[in-house]
Amino acid sequence: MNNKTLTIIKPKALSDNCAGKILSTINANGFRIQAMRMMRLTRPQAEAFYSVHKDRPFFHDLVEFMTSGPIIAAILEKENAVEEYRKLIGSTNPDEAADETIRAMCGTNIQMNAVHGSDSDENAEQEANFFFSYAERF
Ligand code: CMP
Repeated sequence: MNNKTLTIIKPKALSDNCAGKILSTINANGFRIQAMRMMRLTRPQAEAFYSVHKDRPFFHDLVEFMTSGPIIAAILEKENAVEEYRKLIGSTNPDEAADETIRAMCGTNIQMNAVHGSDSDENAEQEANFFFSYAERF
């Protein structure tokens, strides 16, 4: 079991001024922020990050959206972090996300669903390495 996961606070959640609420919810639920950066993804970066979805019909729109404004990327630490964070963020579609989850609180629709969370320990490792060098982890 790994103890870290990678999250992205997506552009719409930032423009909705929801980032503070998301970060305080993350901390209140026992996650430690090991690394964090606010940045705007380039198209090649967004395409690379979401390359697993490249053949899906929503890929083009997803890349457009993820490059439309700044994001906050962070590595979160907690025991069983991937599973615990997926519980905290709720279903991919905010309309189906349980009350009190981050996507229910700050999501707009299935694309603008407030946050990304790694879906496996292997992907958490890859995604953390995508955004952060070891010198940027504390
Ligand atoms: P995320 O956790 O960032 O990982 C992949 C993203 O693709 C997902 O959140 C959604 O934002 C998006 N996504 C997944 N399924 C759909 C869909 N059916 N239509 C549009 N976007 C989707």
